[in-house]
Amino acid sequence: MSLEWWQRNIVYHIYLPSFKDGNDDGIGDFKGLISKLDYFNELKISSLLLSPFYPSPMKDNGYDISSYTDIDPRYGCMEDFDQLMEELNKRGMNIIIDFVANHTSDQHDWFKRSILREEPYTEFYIWADPLPGSAIDNPLPPNNWLSVFDGSAWTWNGVRKQFYFHQFLPEQPDLNYRNPLVREEAKNVLRFWLNKGVDGFRIDAASHLIEDERLIDEPLNKKLNAKEGEYKYLNHIYTKGNEENLDLIEEWKHVLNEFSTSSHKPKILLVEAMEKIEDVMYYYGTFERKLAEIPMNFQFYKIKPESTGEDLQKFIEDWLTKMPKGKYPNWVTNSRDPMRTPMQWNCEKNAGFSTSDTPWLPVNTSCIFKNVEVERKDPFSFLNNFKKLITIREEPAILFSSLVYPVVNEKLFSVLRSVVGAKCFLLLLNMSSEPLRADMTTLSSNLPQKAILELTNCEKYYTQKPQLQKHLGDNNNSSLLETTSSSCNSESACASTGASCVTESAEYIDPVPSTSFASEISTDVNFQEFIYVPLNDIYLGPHQAIVLSYIG
Ligand code: BGC
Repeated sequence: MSLEWWQRNIVYHIYLPSFKDGNDDGIGDFKGLISKLDYFNELKISSLLLSPFYPSPMKDNGYDISSYTDIDPRYGCMEDFDQLMEELNKRGMNIIIDFVANHTSDQHDWFKRSILREEPYTEFYIWADPLPGSAIDNPLPPNNWLSVFDGSAWTWNGVRKQFYFHQFLPEQPDLNYRNPLVREEAKNVLRFWLNKGVDGFRIDAASHLIEDERLIDEPLNKKLNAKEGEYKYLNHIYTKGNEENLDLIEEWKHVLNEFSTSSHKPKILLVEAMEKIEDVMYYYGTFERKLAEIPMNFQFYKIKPESTGEDLQKFIEDWLTKMPKGKYPNWVTNSRDPMRTPMQWNCEKNAGFSTSDTPWLPVNTSCIFKNVEVERKDPFSFLNNFKKLITIREEPAILFSSLVYPVVNEKLFSVLRSVVGAKCFLLLLNMSSEPLRADMTTLSSNLPQKAILELTNCEKYYTQKPQLQKHLGDNNNSSLLETTSSSCNSESACASTGASCVTESAEYIDPVPSTSFASEISTDVNFQEFIYVPLNDIYLGPHQAIVLSYIG
């Protein structure tokens, strides 16, 4: 079985204004992004997903677009975009861009003309007369529909003397996809960017594309305790998840298919649909009717600090068991709206994001100890674990095997990916805030006695306490990695200490802060030295994760 480009690698989501500023005005831009493309080489990432970069009054972080086929001057110009495409091509990288199809900005030319009833724009948006019987000087919305951002989804326009519908802000009027002209325009937008060589689109807010034409009031949501006017106050049976959304996605897929054929490369659709999981599955389509390759899976957003191993297994299995046969899963790990502060590159001004005195958003104060440069040198850093995971993600066991859960209980989550004759991977995750000890070999058959440590998020594992204390106490120059590897880097080293690595390291002491730790290591870190972990005596610190491997 051969896999396509979008199946083999992860997709890295970039919020352009926060990634890298190339012209020192405090806002991330195309020049900045181009200057950082080697970073993706380091990460071994070949596919990028770009948030909206189109002209926007920025009422909703760029998701209010005033022209679909231009570049917002904040981010550069079309030549910069073309240069980005050229650089990506040179590197064999793929790019997916955001298609905010549901709505435009109220500053879009189409909307301005629609207000004036200028043809062909008159019916480009969803216009409705006031509720019959409401007073001329106090027109009431045609129904009770609510905006995702709370309050009525209808705003009165005094010029056109009608209400217009907006699923999001009043500054984001919804396009009328029942109008064939709007459908044609949307396809033209896709063609425009496909002609520039993009490899796919993320369809923003896909659940909201088409509403029930009858404009019937929505019923109250009885399950949720919400105040009148709050979005969750109603059950959105007429404004969300309309079956006709799928027809629209299919039309767009056909446009992409033409370009897939002519470019000999699959062009793909990602769909953002905030619906219950069974309904999100419809966006995959069927064997005969192929729709989106990636209906975005937000199951991991459900993980809470108090989630158990059983919860995590359920989140994963809910997706896998409901996914139609022959489709490919995806896991969105982190893309929440509030997390849009500037990228932290190094310890310089504004964490290396910009030299401006006023970055568009303040840089997180964590930047001194959480940045790319510092994390490169810390073997347990998020960055180094992320890099290692990206490499593991390309292993046959991860690409082709099913998931087996050797032990799952309240505190412990484990999942095994195995193929005969190749490297198998076992993830162990302590879901609790207490250390835990487990004998995996008794709890589960079919596991070997020991396995190789591939990665861990915590320095407490496999570090001998006396040496760690020395390292902390007298500011010894030798790195923790060297200390670790000299005593625990091989089976024989472990044996010669007379104890397993696990028992030697089982004393839990406070972690070394990343900064002091990283500053003592001069070279980048790798895990080339093998550390063997006895599966009959696993010891995990609070919320510690380890990935182990062995040949199956
Ligand atoms: C974005 C939000 C935006 C919404 C509507 C989401 O995908 O993350 O910021 O408000 O789409 O465009």
